[in-house]
Amino acid sequence: MNIENLKKEDASEIHKIGLRVNEFQTSEKPLFWSKDVLEAWIESKNDITICLKEKEEIVAFALVAVHLPTSKATFENMWVAPEHRAKGVSQEFIKKIIEELKNKNIGYVAGMVGLQNTASQAMLTAAGFQKGKEFYWFDKTLK
Ligand SMILES: CC(C)(COP(=O)(O)OP(=O)(O)OC[C@H]1O[C@@H](n2cnc3c(N)ncnc32)[C@H](O)[C@@H]1OP(=O)(O)O)[C@@H](O)C(=O)NCCC(=O)NCCS
Repeated sequence: MNIENLKKEDASEIHKIGLRVNEFQTSEKPLFWSKDVLEAWIESKNDITICLKEKEEIVAFALVAVHLPTSKATFENMWVAPEHRAKGVSQEFIKKIIEELKNKNIGYVAGMVGLQNTASQAMLTAAGFQKGKEFYWFDKTLK
């Protein structure tokens, strides 16, 4: 499986896909990272932003925020196109991400999953993550 790093020019496509993925929504208003934020994230050297392409089309991606002072990584978004699911793509992504996090000396990785999102819960359980307590999502837009 040829997992690639995302490129700055992929930001617009990732933005479009992200807005359409129901599982990424945290409230009634559709919200996803802007193209500018995605470009900065892709160009940041500490973070991990990867994808799988088929005929130059993005068919899967993962965005991981890496915070060096706390030695913590956050799985922000992972998506596999419906026709590519159940073939182990997300497990390959997680393997690669964990390997890169270890190289960066990151000690802790966590992610938020919707209560109804059983596929994602099963995916993380299969990858050895522990299921913790339930929380509400509270947010506030600042600009
Ligand atoms: C969650 C998601 C990324 C899984 O991707 P995937 O490539 O299909 O997952 P894999 O094929 O690597 O499956 C890994 C494991 O997850 C579990 N799993 C994945 N999809 C599942 C499903 N629909 N039902 C039950 N278990 C599932 C299985 O345990 C599987 O292991 P197995 O194949 O050994 O049984 C994909 O369904 C997706 O993009 N969903 C929409 C977006 C989303 O919810 N993202 C995560 C929240 S940010």
